[in-house]
Amino acid sequence: MKNFINLKDIPAKDLKKILNEAKRRKVKRKKLAALEVDKDAPLKGKMLVQMFEKSSLRTRLSFYVAIRQLGGGALTLRPDELHLSKGGESIADTAKILSTFGNAFMLRTDNDQKLDNFKKYMTIPIINGLSPSSHPTQVLSDVFTIEEIKKKPISKLQICWIGDGNNNVINSLIEASVKFSFKLSIGCPKKYQPNKKLLNWSKKNKAQIKIFNDSEKAATDSDVIFTDKVVSMNDKVNKSKKIKDFKNFKVDSKVMRSAKKDSIFLHCLPRGSEVSDDVFLGKQSKVWQQALNRIYVQKSILLYSFGKLR
Ligand code: CP
Ligand code: NVA
Repeated sequence: MKNFINLKDIPAKDLKKILNEAKRRKVKRKKLAALEVDKDAPLKGKMLVQMFEKSSLRTRLSFYVAIRQLGGGALTLRPDELHLSKGGESIADTAKILSTFGNAFMLRTDNDQKLDNFKKYMTIPIINGLSPSSHPTQVLSDVFTIEEIKKKPISKLQICWIGDGNNNVINSLIEASVKFSFKLSIGCPKKYQPNKKLLNWSKKNKAQIKIFNDSEKAATDSDVIFTDKVVSMNDKVNKSKKIKDFKNFKVDSKVMRSAKKDSIFLHCLPRGSEVSDDVFLGKQSKVWQQALNRIYVQKSILLYSFGKLR
């Protein structure tokens, strides 16, 4: 059994194995409908319990479809219906019950500490479906999408992030840049630079990261342009002020022109005003493929967590 909480704690060789398995399974079930089970049904009879303390569309759908395709089933808990959220039951007892009834637990949380607390008491694997500080399942899936579209290892590409330099998605992208050895340029306002501790960790681990306070400079010669909402779900900020601070960091056609001609645009969704409609809906945008691929990578993450990855 293996937890999947942060990319930086998972060996690079395991992350690569997860992607290879996702690729293998995606090709194999091309003609199957969404809920038809993979031939080998590797998680037959297993139950994934998922709980969302914050909104979700893609993560919820993709984990549900993923466990079903592997032969298992999913139960989604609403935190407001549990005793836990009202202070009527401890994490320790909740974790014990989850571990007795279920076989894996996927948690989207508003508090990183909760992942650690659950981990302490669970005897089944726990998967981080987004926390204030990381979004590892998203970013691993994005590496999959990039390699699928570009048909080469991400280590041969230059990836660019425009937007908040210190949110969950960029944090996981920084961790991924170390694990997969790719060049990462970050374009963000001075006030919103990446987390210092994470940058220090990445430097110690041979990261190839450049930070710019100019979006076109950051995008120059990149193969992939990423952005994300300026205000994240767990941000406790003055929203309109933060949006104003990012007025020069919108991904528009000018930014895309700074990148390579065959560059692609990715966005984990949901979107706000950080990308222009013509880029988001344009030819270079691969956002729908990116969203759908989450199913295949979640399947592989589940197999990894169950110790069933070859
Ligand atoms: N990208 C992503 O995690 O989407 P949801 O918040 O809808 O799950
Ligand atoms: N950074 C965003 C990602 C949403 C999937 C947020 O946390 O709201």
